[in-house]
Amino acid sequence: MTREFSQEQLRVRPSSREDAVVASAQLHFERTLVRVRGELVGSVAALEHPRNLETANYGEVFLRDNVPVMLYLLVQGRFDIVRHFLTVCLDLQSSTYQTRGVFPTSFVETDGKLIADYGQRSIGRITSVDASLWWPVVCWLYVQRSRDRAFGASQRVQRGVQLLLDLVLHPTFEGTPVLFVPDCSFMIDRPMDVWGAPLEIEVLLYGCLRSCSRLMELAQESHVSRLLDQRLVLTRQWVHDLRSFLLKHYWVTSKTMQLLRRRPTEQYGDHQHENVFNVQPQVIPPWLQDWLENRGGYLIGNMRTGRPDFRFYSLGNSLACLFGLLTAPQQRALFRLVLHNRQHLMAQMPMRICHPPLEGDEWMGKTGSDPKNWPWSYHNAGHWPSLLWFLGGAVLLHQQRHRQADSLLMGQMNSLLEECYWSQLNQLPRQQWAEYFDGPTGTWVGQQARTYQTWTIVGFLLMHHLLRVKPGDATLLDIEA
Ligand code: GLC
Repeated sequence: MTREFSQEQLRVRPSSREDAVVASAQLHFERTLVRVRGELVGSVAALEHPRNLETANYGEVFLRDNVPVMLYLLVQGRFDIVRHFLTVCLDLQSSTYQTRGVFPTSFVETDGKLIADYGQRSIGRITSVDASLWWPVVCWLYVQRSRDRAFGASQRVQRGVQLLLDLVLHPTFEGTPVLFVPDCSFMIDRPMDVWGAPLEIEVLLYGCLRSCSRLMELAQESHVSRLLDQRLVLTRQWVHDLRSFLLKHYWVTSKTMQLLRRRPTEQYGDHQHENVFNVQPQVIPPWLQDWLENRGGYLIGNMRTGRPDFRFYSLGNSLACLFGLLTAPQQRALFRLVLHNRQHLMAQMPMRICHPPLEGDEWMGKTGSDPKNWPWSYHNAGHWPSLLWFLGGAVLLHQQRHRQADSLLMGQMNSLLEECYWSQLNQLPRQQWAEYFDGPTGTWVGQQARTYQTWTIVGFLLMHHLLRVKPGDATLLDIEA
């Protein structure tokens, strides 16, 4: 299905090579798929990479990198691979005392042996939290799409869900519904001052708990268990509290900022709720004023006592739309913000991972002088083509859900997506499907970027699928669909 769009509106020229580029991307994608125990299981992180990085782990199957892979396989109806992936991940769910229930960051089969990395082999030895939170989401989406309810209700899946929930639903020193994590525990896996309750983790937790509920409901249909009933009640309550918490403390607009700036500080006791994190007005960064303009809104990156992180994170905000955490008017406020800041967020290579970068002393202190995360590079405001389809999916899903709403805005968002799609289509084949792009405009291939990076390739294919093949598949990531 090809959409009509006015040529004058486009800043990027369409390419007559569209079909050829898509076909070659599909070929590259097929080459990324690998086998475990003789069956296709998912994709390696990258097909090729610079010589000096040959000893690294890009030939492994990363759980997070395989999320778009699994979704793409689902739209193609290749359910066996997705099911095998989910099963292998379950087999690798940690059973050692300190990490019981954790899913691995990545795995690989060598000489017939399956080896998993729970963080003990990565640079910095970090355990990924997002991998574990993604697993129930992908599992539920698989059940929804394939209608393989028996798999969802099976004992092994149900046991995996309970083991995972044990990691979340337990008493802690914290009285809030968020999950506390160390720095580097998700896609941003090098020090970037993203410890505490970073947006991406909390939004994923929301999607994870909702998916766990849906999976537990499947089991509830076939057998009565008081324990399961209690778990369901607790999980649903947690989901509710988490959403309220995020909307109350992370969502900002120009209007809320004006109120926040005039809040009292130093409040004790339980009667005052205006400034529970004791945020001083001085910590509000000056760039925020233009960033928000009049009608924009977004979820900030983190909330910690006295030190909110106002950086904008693309993935957490897009997922908050896809999972339905943000209300419909809030989603439109987010789209307005993206339009207003398109020269930052999209620039030459959509889309920027977070904004603005840490610079100078902040970069030195908070990244540990990490040269890979130099300002405007890699995780520190670099541009990642793999992120575009998450926003694209959010926009298209919104349009399908709210057909009449703000047609001017949604028309502008559609043109924006078209242009972003064309700029990827025109550049990525020449740039060998690089992992990330550097500099304030994202024009340069990332200094240490791998080439033929799987999620760059499959992210483009998903965007193509949603724009050209079947826009209705935007519901793919909708847990409640
Ligand atoms: C890098 C990225 C991480 C990704 C991995 C494999 O470590 O920071 O997000 O999962 O490469 O592509």
